[in-house]
Amino acid sequence: MNNKVSVVGAGNVGATAAQRLAEKELCDVVLIDIVEGVPQGKALDLTEAAPIEKHDAKITGTNSYEASAGSDVVIITAGIPRKPGMSRDDLISTNAGIMKNVTEQVAKLSPNAVLIIVSNPLDAMCHVALNASGFPKERVIGMAGVLDSARFRAFIAMELDVSVENTHAFVLGGHGDTMVPLPRYSTVAGIPITELIAKDRIDALVDRTANGGAEIVSLLKTGSAYYAPASAAVEMTESILKDKKKVLPCAAYLQGEYGLHDLFIGVPVKLGSKGIEEVIEIKLTDDETAALKHSADAVQELKDILKKLG
Ligand SMILES: NC(=O)c1ccc[n+]([C@@H]2O[C@H](COP(=O)([O-])OP(=O)(O)OC[C@H]3O[C@@H](n4cnc5c(N)ncnc54)[C@H](O)[C@@H]3O)[C@@H](O)[C@H]2O)c1
Repeated sequence: MNNKVSVVGAGNVGATAAQRLAEKELCDVVLIDIVEGVPQGKALDLTEAAPIEKHDAKITGTNSYEASAGSDVVIITAGIPRKPGMSRDDLISTNAGIMKNVTEQVAKLSPNAVLIIVSNPLDAMCHVALNASGFPKERVIGMAGVLDSARFRAFIAMELDVSVENTHAFVLGGHGDTMVPLPRYSTVAGIPITELIAKDRIDALVDRTANGGAEIVSLLKTGSAYYAPASAAVEMTESILKDKKKVLPCAAYLQGEYGLHDLFIGVPVKLGSKGIEEVIEIKLTDDETAALKHSADAVQELKDILKKLG
């Protein structure tokens, strides 16, 4: 393959992302984890599936970073996942240490890479990665909105019994209970869902979307969602590798856009080979502005916790 993508964290999200990247023949994949044998075993298993899945992507599993050198994109999923009853914010201290360490190693060997951050608490981990990498803000991007809007789209399709391919959804804000789904910009075949679904049902779908992660955690009992999160990270990676310039909701470092400063928050961005090529600003209603502000306050709280932790 012409492109190289490294995935740090060979757990559920990382290994599934590696599988999807390879099966789409988007790139060679380097899978890195701290646990000895796990990335090697999963990489070998994926390699042995290649003849059946008909792809020629090389998948390397390793505990060190050398093989990741010169990556075009690095997806960081390293960390501990949320357990039932645990909020994303509880994870902050442990995962901040892991994120700092991983990012420093990655940045040294792949100075031109675009970083896609997956580990939770997402918005806070993006801040850690931005600082630890020293990369420009365009090349540190958080994965949250693509997942949240995919969940919203799945629920809209289920509600109306239509193809998921006809659905578009728009979600702003931080990744968590304060996310801001925007029904008036969410459509089925171009028709706003506000014209197709009754308000009380839209509210129910919005609520299910905002709690989408917790719903899966409570079903799985151990671990959190990974199929859809991996798909979301891979969609972002594909847009970057192919310079597709897809407009996707991602956590971006805002410096004045939407009236927010020095915060990672989910907004629509254009993703191309340089990373974030544009933050797209849309007009919000007063209610939506208030909801975004509420979400930004939650991210600011996480940032303050990080500051306290040093
Ligand atoms: N942004 C989102 O929407 C979203 C969605 C799903 C999961 N997540 C988050 O992604 C992360 C991964 O989730 P998962 O389900 O794959 O968890 P997992 O436990 O299956 O995998 C995490 C992996 O990270 C590895 N790891 C830990 N410390 C490391 C280090 N220092 N260096 C390299 N590897 C290290 C672990 O050994 C493990 O294999 C979690 O933080 C989870 O909360 C975020």
